[in-house]
Amino acid sequence: MAMSESAATAVEISNPRGLAITSNFDVRPADNVDGYKSFVVGEFTFRRDSYFCHITWPGGRHQLAIDVFLRALMRDVAWGFFYGTVNFDTVFGTTNYYGEVEVFAGATNDAYTSAGRDFIQRFKSDELMKSFREMISDWTNEGYDPFAAPMETGAPWGAKNGENDTAVTRQRVTAKRMVSLPGDTPIRSDEDGFTVNRMFQDVPQDEPEVHVEPGFEHEVSAFNLYAYLSRSDVTWNPSVCSVVKDSLFCPTTEEFILPVEHGNDRCEWFIQLSDEIIWDVKDGSTGKPRAVVTMRSGDVSCMPADIRHQGYSNKRSMLLVWENGSPKIPDLIRAGKAPVVPVSW
Ligand SMILES: [Fe+2]
Repeated sequence: MAMSESAATAVEISNPRGLAITSNFDVRPADNVDGYKSFVVGEFTFRRDSYFCHITWPGGRHQLAIDVFLRALMRDVAWGFFYGTVNFDTVFGTTNYYGEVEVFAGATNDAYTSAGRDFIQRFKSDELMKSFREMISDWTNEGYDPFAAPMETGAPWGAKNGENDTAVTRQRVTAKRMVSLPGDTPIRSDEDGFTVNRMFQDVPQDEPEVHVEPGFEHEVSAFNLYAYLSRSDVTWNPSVCSVVKDSLFCPTTEEFILPVEHGNDRCEWFIQLSDEIIWDVKDGSTGKPRAVVTMRSGDVSCMPADIRHQGYSNKRSMLLVWENGSPKIPDLIRAGKAPVVPVSW
């Protein structure tokens, strides 16, 4: 009895604001000016023109440059709304409740919340994802890849011009145990189209030799993570490369700006594997600045569970993001039963 109760608790979707699910979605035909469809998501509407995404909701409106919006939307889609909050900018974003998602305007912005002008609606994840996928497909033009570094892709501006579904439907790497194990995600190679990035030409490409005791072929393995990352064709896309219970190693390559301000709902470790990233760290709820952290190769930091962060990387760099994937953590933190920092002295 006790076990079944605790199992039920583990999968229960938390709803701290007590919001009802909204299920109205609509797609409006392409306009005859710039040729893009508009999207209705609950009481939000999304419209794009040559340079901007325009978002409206009852009592408010907001606009983002379309490159900023598409890069952020791409991460939200590819990450499945990720952990915690994905702030597209200081006004618009999503918060993941793992099965359900809140879409908000101003909910993590002190000026909006203190004036009572924030607006939040809640959706089933799969229904919202369908709408977001359709939006990024219609709004991404031929030759533009919202996953790529700006110097490695074309421009998103202008009237509707073709599509790039190959880029916007990429599957995020999610290893079941570890990259390179039999039956799991393979290492990358020229033959598979993953060539060494222009900024990682100096990274050795040799692979470790592993001599396995007979009978342990499925248990013992190793691969060159630096070589693997040097062949990443995307930026700011933490991908699960090894899994031990709830411990997820999610390395990624970073160039230009993290397209979102990620609002953590748990502690998140960063290990800088190469080069340098500068992190702007702000309060998760209000957006007030808290710290600027410069991480160079070999540096380790832990982002607390109550902050948001955005990184800047001039030269393409390698970052290991270490996540605790336990579904229990956000509620434990909300209830004050788990700390927002990993260590106290
Ligand atoms: Fe984060």
